[in-house]
Amino acid sequence: MTEGGRLLLATCGESETRDLGRALGTACGERMCVALRGALGAGKTVLVKGIADGLGVTDHVTSPTFTFVNEYGAGGRRLTHVDLYRIESEDDLESIGWSDVVLEADVLAVEWAERADGDLPVPRIDVELALGRGDERRVELRAHGGEARLAIARLSLRGAACA
Ligand SMILES: Nc1ncnc2c1ncn2[C@@H]1O[C@H](COP(=O)(O)OP(=O)(O)OP(=O)(O)O)[C@@H](O)[C@H]1O
Ligand SMILES: [Mg+2]
Repeated sequence: MTEGGRLLLATCGESETRDLGRALGTACGERMCVALRGALGAGKTVLVKGIADGLGVTDHVTSPTFTFVNEYGAGGRRLTHVDLYRIESEDDLESIGWSDVVLEADVLAVEWAERADGDLPVPRIDVELALGRGDERRVELRAHGGEARLAIARLSLRGAACA
């Protein structure tokens, strides 16, 4: 379902979430923040691996749980993958160089984005992953800014939704 910059869908299994990420990576413009929320094991990292595929990243993408920030070359662009799970304060955010991370990223994928609420750039797509039954995940995408709305429109046209 899509309406004005909002898209609701469900994925069944890891590979469908990766496919969705790939479509998102292909659809996002030159600069985009993808802000991911969802419980442990909801599939945030899986989605980012797909985004990396869509951007043409050839390096193996791993979760930045302990490094906080991983960067990958993607053609002429840079994918910056951040995991804020262990960030508890504004000071923690600055200690990982958050302002520079935001300035320097082309595509910025942020897990546990709620830890940086108020400090997330636009254009941005907020992605909420909710655990469903078994391997089902319900995914809500919400656009902030014109480029993000365009990306979600492109994604809908590609028929990214699964059964
Ligand atoms: N529909 C689905 N989409 C994504 N992952 C799924 C799905 N169904 C099952 N899984 C499994 O759920 C797990 C998701 O792991 P992932 O590391 O992506 O979660 P995460 O949200 O990044 O967690 P964390 O908060 O610990 O970083 C994987 O083991 C994956 O195989
Ligand atoms: Mg993760």
